[in-house]
Amino acid sequence: MAEEKVSNTGDVDSQVVNPWEVTAKDGGKIDYDKLIEKFGCQRLGDDIVQRVERLTGRPAHVFLRRGVFFAHRDFDEILDLYERGQKFYLYTGRGLSSEALHLGHLVPFMFTKYLQDAFKVPLVIQLTDDEKCMWKNLAVEESKRLARENARDIIACGFDITRTFIFSDFNYLGGAFYENMVKVANCVTFNKVVGIFGFTPEDHIGKISFPPVQAVPSFPSSFPHIFSDKNNKVNNDLRCLIPCAIDQDPYFRMTRDVAPRIGYQKPSLIESSFFPALQNGKMSASDPNSAIYVTDSLKDIKNKVNRYAFSGGQDSIENHRKFGANLEVDIPIKYLSFFLDDDAELEHIKEEYGSGRMLTGQVKARLIEVLSELVERHRKARALVTDEMVDAFMAVRPLPYMFS
Ligand code: TRP
Repeated sequence: MAEEKVSNTGDVDSQVVNPWEVTAKDGGKIDYDKLIEKFGCQRLGDDIVQRVERLTGRPAHVFLRRGVFFAHRDFDEILDLYERGQKFYLYTGRGLSSEALHLGHLVPFMFTKYLQDAFKVPLVIQLTDDEKCMWKNLAVEESKRLARENARDIIACGFDITRTFIFSDFNYLGGAFYENMVKVANCVTFNKVVGIFGFTPEDHIGKISFPPVQAVPSFPSSFPHIFSDKNNKVNNDLRCLIPCAIDQDPYFRMTRDVAPRIGYQKPSLIESSFFPALQNGKMSASDPNSAIYVTDSLKDIKNKVNRYAFSGGQDSIENHRKFGANLEVDIPIKYLSFFLDDDAELEHIKEEYGSGRMLTGQVKARLIEVLSELVERHRKARALVTDEMVDAFMAVRPLPYMFS
C-alpha cells in the first residue's frame, strides 16, 4: 500500500492551509490546484459527478455539480463498492464557534445530508468541544453548552435520526474510542505531527495530543453500539467517507497513513473549497459584517448584501453597460452559485450581468431573496428542535435501520 504523503503543512509559496490557518499569498485567492498537488489528493471531475447521479438515481447536489466539492481521496473506491451493493458510513464534524453559525458552516452539513439521503447510509457527527477549549481557550462548561447549541443547528439541516449519531468529545470519549486513539497515537511521532500540522515546542501538549481524537471516528470499531453485529463483532472493513472542507485534510492524511498499520481501512474524503467572505476574502470572526449568520434578521441580510457584498460591476452605469460585470470577483454571483438551485436561472443571470444588461442592484436583490429564504427556513427548522431531540440524536444507541 502506498505511503500517504504527509510531510507538509500546506504551505505553498506562502499560501498556508491547515485546520487553524487559511491564508492566501499576498491576501489574494487560494490556489486550489496547487493545494491538490501539495496535499496529494485527487481532483473531483465530471466523470465522478455523473457516476454519482447514475448510482443514486438523482441529480447531483449543487455543491457537487458546481465544483464546491472539488477534491477527493478514494471517493471512487466508495462508488465502486456501492456499485457492488456494499455500504459505507459517513463521518463529519464541527468545532464550535462562540458566535452563531454563518452560511459557510452550513455548507458541509447541507452536503452531508444530501449524501445521507442519496446513499441511505449511517452518519456520525463529531462535535469537538475539547478542541475549542484547547485552541480558543474556551471554558469547559461554555464549550459543552455551545456543543448542544451547535447540535441544534446541525439537526435543523434535516438529518435522519434513524441513521445519525451526534456525539460530543467530552461526553463520548472513552471505551473503544479511546482504545483506537491510543493505537493511533502509538504510530505517530512528534516529528510527524510537526511536519503535518506545524506544531512548535511552544504549543501546549493538549494540541499535540488532539489529532487522534479527530482521526478515530474514521474507524467503525470506535462505535461498537452502532457497528457491532449479533456476536458483538465489528466489521472493520466497513469503509468511511468524510465530507469536509479541505483545511481538515491534514488530520485525515495522518489517519490514512496510520490506518493500514493498525489493521484498519483508510477513510475516503470528499473535500470542499472555502466559502468566501462578503468582501471576497476570508471570513473573520471579529468582523460580523464579513459573513451572513443564520441568526441575522432579514433586515441584516439586506443591509449586509447591499453594503458589503463585493461587486464585480463597473463604477458607472455607462461603463457597466459597455463592459459588463467581472463575474470572477463578484460575490453576489458566487453566493448565488452556492445557493440558487436553478441552473437555468443562474446561467441567465450570469449572461445578463456579465454583458452589462443586468445591474449589480438587481443581482443583489435576487441574492437577498435567496438568502432570506434559506435563513428563514433554517430559523424555523431550528426552532422546532427540542432538548429531547438533541438528547435523542446524541444517545449512545444502536441504529437498526441505518442501511435500509
Ligand atoms: N476540526 C473540525 C473543526 O474545527 C471539526 C471536525 C471534527 C471535523 N471531525 C471532523 C470536520 C470531520 C470535518 C470532518 O471544524
